[in-house]
Amino acid sequence: MKSRVSGLLATTASLFAIALSMAPSRLLADDDFAYGRRLFLDKAQCSYCHGWAGDGAGEPQSNGGAANLRNSSLDRKSLIEVISCGVPGTPMPHFDEGAYSDNRCYGMTEAELGSRTPGLPPSTTLQKREIEALADYLLAKIIRRGPVTRAECHEVFGERGRSCDEIAQ
Ligand code: HEC
Repeated sequence: MKSRVSGLLATTASLFAIALSMAPSRLLADDDFAYGRRLFLDKAQCSYCHGWAGDGAGEPQSNGGAANLRNSSLDRKSLIEVISCGVPGTPMPHFDEGAYSDNRCYGMTEAELGSRTPGLPPSTTLQKREIEALADYLLAKIIRRGPVTRAECHEVFGERGRSCDEIAQ
């Protein structure tokens, strides 16, 4: 009897240990995306042109024509390059402040690109680690995610934050 009780206690203890070892990594992962999401929606205002869900439905007053990032086929390295350098000849701005001060972007300087040089962002330029966090956020939550879902809307705006009901389940 005694050994059965201690066996049970040992099982309970190891279940606790497993639960504890899982919890921090779950929290960390959620937190990582919360950071990338804040950059996308607030600090960098990517959503101004690309829409909160990255589907290209930005604010009416933006330049329009922003890419539907959900259909993008770019990998992490190319995403970092596009966010840092922008897309020459289009409204996609460069978020690396010094992007065209030397030839770090596409091997071109502002002098060579002339009027095709991507502009400064509507909000602010970003640090390298912020650009990397954005690329990771896009890969985890936006790219190849198909049509925007109501669950996603609730994840971003909370249960009552915005009218998510217009989006199909
Ligand atoms: C001023 C409007 C504007 C803002 C702000 C903006 N973008 Fe863009 N973005 C565009 C446009 C327009 C394009 C399409 C360029 C083209 O025609 O190739 C684009 C293209 C892209 C692409 C390339 C997609 C592909 O598959 O080729 C990525 C990635 C991207 N944007 C990410 C971002 C991120 C991340 C942010 C915020 C840090 C951001 N953009 C902010 C307008 C904007």
